[in-house]
Parts: sequence; structure tokens; C-alpha cells
Amino acid sequence: MDKFVVNGVGKLHGTVKISGAKNSCLALMPATLLTKGKNNILNVPEVNDTYTMIKLLKELGAEISFNNHELKINTSNVSNFVAPYEHVKKMRASVYVLGPLLAHYGYAKVSMPGGCAWGPRPINLHLEAMEKLGASIELEGGYIVAKANRLSGAKINFDVSSVGATGNTIMAAVLAKGTSLITNAAIEPEITHLEHFLEMMGAKINGIGTSTLEIEGVDELMPAKITNIPDRIEAGTLLIAGAITKSKIGIEYSHPEHIESLLLKLEDSGAKLKQVDGIIEINAENMEIKSTDVTTSIYPGFPTDMQAQWIAYMTLAKGTSTVTDNIYLDRFKHVPELKRLGADIEMRNNSAIVKGVNQLTGAKVMSTDLRASASLVLAGLAAKGTTEILRIYHLDRGYQRIEEKLQKLGANITRESTKEY
Ligand code: EPU
Repeated sequence: MDKFVVNGVGKLHGTVKISGAKNSCLALMPATLLTKGKNNILNVPEVNDTYTMIKLLKELGAEISFNNHELKINTSNVSNFVAPYEHVKKMRASVYVLGPLLAHYGYAKVSMPGGCAWGPRPINLHLEAMEKLGASIELEGGYIVAKANRLSGAKINFDVSSVGATGNTIMAAVLAKGTSLITNAAIEPEITHLEHFLEMMGAKINGIGTSTLEIEGVDELMPAKITNIPDRIEAGTLLIAGAITKSKIGIEYSHPEHIESLLLKLEDSGAKLKQVDGIIEINAENMEIKSTDVTTSIYPGFPTDMQAQWIAYMTLAKGTSTVTDNIYLDRFKHVPELKRLGADIEMRNNSAIVKGVNQLTGAKVMSTDLRASASLVLAGLAAKGTTEILRIYHLDRGYQRIEEKLQKLGANITRESTKEY
């Protein structure tokens, strides 16, 4: 097992390139199950969730090579339609194979995901949508068994905007017979990119990138080639690394519009931002961090996947800030760990009340989930002394060797193997 050892309070400098987006890739990869043949996805991040999805798709019969950030996925021989517990328990996004398998092959058996480290994450909306499209759904031995001769178009309105349920439903509707109308669809960039990929395969989708989608089902989809978008959460995490260490750094990132809400909050907190030639430069030199409240919401609001990192940042602000998560009410496992570094945070329901302190101090802390781990790395960069972050396998699920990017920016961070966990 690996840990990070961070010696904090050094300044960062230089520029790093942002990797491909994990959450986009996790939707694009299963979408290839809708086709028979050779698909290509470029700019794929080398993160553990990518490898888990590769294993799952291979188990279904896909032939896959992954070199130089390019995935070649040949779905010609897909013949198994079961997503086993061992994959789904590791990665909830495995449930994305449900829609494509059901739509293409009329059958899918997918292990029911359990709770996750920070609380319940239901999939009722995915299942209700499949039923509306004509599937029969049963629960057998912990597995969802979904069957349909051919799905048929339907009207689906999501009570709650859900990235995963929207992705699954679109992937099912594109091969259904007739027209589907999906309202209150998620408009996160990862979903819009999935819609583009499906369109390249021959899907007929009206309203791409909006919350109302009209999908006219087709009989067949053809393999396609797409370049994945860069990871907006990695971009945001590294910008906060610059801000929390009061440094001037740049990130090479081509989609600033995907992180507009975060950029505005960074400016509110006192950081200066400049965008030139595909680089976002953040300048936080000699800055006093202003306390800045955030409330997470669906895109284009402030992302829940940046909440933990923002709390880490606010621990060093002047004054008190309130950070509220309205998407996942219990996603605050990082708070007790940040307190071990000297942060002053009080929880009130789904809000963290963060009173800025002058200095954090290094300590041993534990990663509990992906974004919590990132917040500990950020806090460690700004803490005096040594911070050891255990269980960084959580972080490796979604950040491509973040320590190398931080080292390139001059941070004192190393990965070490340890027997402790
Ligand atoms: N929800 C339901 N029923 C459902 C599905 C969702 O009530 O059937 C609720 C959830 O409980 C939550 C809200 O809807 O309150 C939104 O959840 P959503 O379905 O949008 O989340 P997801 O698709 O499971 C994706 C990302 C998450 C990210 C969320 C929110 C992937 C693979 N995962 O999850 O990413 O936090 O959207 O933006 O795309 C991460 O990268 O660290 C991560 C957890």
C-alpha cells in the first residue's frame, strides 16, 4: 500500500498539463457496448477506475488495448452480459453497462451497488427509467436482472438531476424503438461529451448539452473515435494547490468554461486569474485568503467533487466560511482528518463552518475517498512540517499520478510504500 509524504509550505511554480477526465471516460467506455466493432477513445487518464472499467468490459468479451492514453475497444465478440459484484463494489460507475447491454442485447445482470464511503448513493432513477423504456427489472441475489425484447421510446422526467441515470438512460434510448423525451437531464460536461460520442456512432439526439433531450431510436450504431475532454476536477484541484500555497502557477487546460463557477469563487477568495493560449494562470502570491462560502449544486454550479478541496483551502482563510453540500449531504469524511492538521471546522447538518486558522501543522492522516484524499494533499502542501497521507489508493482511482504533477510544480511530495493502513 502506498502513502504520500508531504513537506509543506514551499511555494509552487511552473505549468502542468491536465489529464483526461475520469468521469467522462467512465461513460464513454461502456457506450462502446452499443456498437459491434473497433472504437477508439483518446486522452484517457491512467487512473485505477479506467483499469477497473477495462477489466469489466474485457469480462463482457471486449478486446481492449490501452497505450499512450488511447483506448482501442473492439466490441465484436461481446457475449457475456453480467457485471459481477467484484467490479461494481470497487467502482459504482460499473452500473453504466446496464443501459447499453440492455438496449443492444436485451439482457443485463448487474450487481446492485451498495452504499459508499460517505453515505447512500441510490440507483432508483436508473432502474425506473429502464422500466419506462419497457424493461422488466428484478432483483436476484444482490443483482439487478434487466430484460427486454427491444426497448421502446418513452417520456422520462427525472425528479432529481442525476449524471449516472441520465447517462444510462440516453445509452438505452438511442437503440430503443421510437422516440424518447428525457426532461431534467443532467448537463454536466461529461454527459454532453457522451451525447457527442453517441451522435458520432449514429444516434439521433436533439438538444445535446441541454436538460431536454429528444432521442429518436435507431436500429444500429457504428463504432466511433473520440478524444476525451480534460478533467475539470483535476484542473480545479491543481488551481487550489496554487492558491493554498500562495503561489503563481499555470495549468494547461482547454475547457475553462467547464470550471467557471470555481474560477469565480477563486477570484472571490482573492486569487488573480489569467487565461492565455490554453493556460489558466493563478496568482496568489502575497495574498490573504478571503473566506468565501460555497454551496454545491448541479452543473454549472459549484461541483460536489470540489467541495472537500474547497474546505481544505478555507481552513487558511481570514474569517469564517460556510461550505454546504446539497448533492451529497454526508460527504464530509475529510473534516475530522483536516482537524488533525489543526483546522477549525464545525459541522452543521450538510454544512461545514470553517474558521480560518493562521497555520496548519503536519500530521498523519487517512484518505477515506477520492476527493477527501485530494483535500488532504492540498492541506499537506500548506501545513508546516510533514504530513503523511495513508490509503492513497482512493486518490489513485481518479487522479493520474498527482504527485508527479505537484513535483513538477516544485512541491515536496513523495510516494512511499508502507505496511501501515
Ligand atoms: N440520485 C438518486 N437516485 C439515483 C441516482 C442519483 O437519488 O438513482 C441522487 C444522488 O443521491 C445524488 C444526486 O442524485 O444526491 C446526484 O447523483 P448523480 O447520480 O448525479 O451521481 P453519480 O452519477 O453517481 C457522478 C460522478 C460523481 C459525482 C456526481 C455528482 C461519475 C462516475 N461519478 O456520480 O463523481 O460526484 O456525479 O456530480 O461520473 C467523483 O469523481 O469523485 C465522484 C464521486
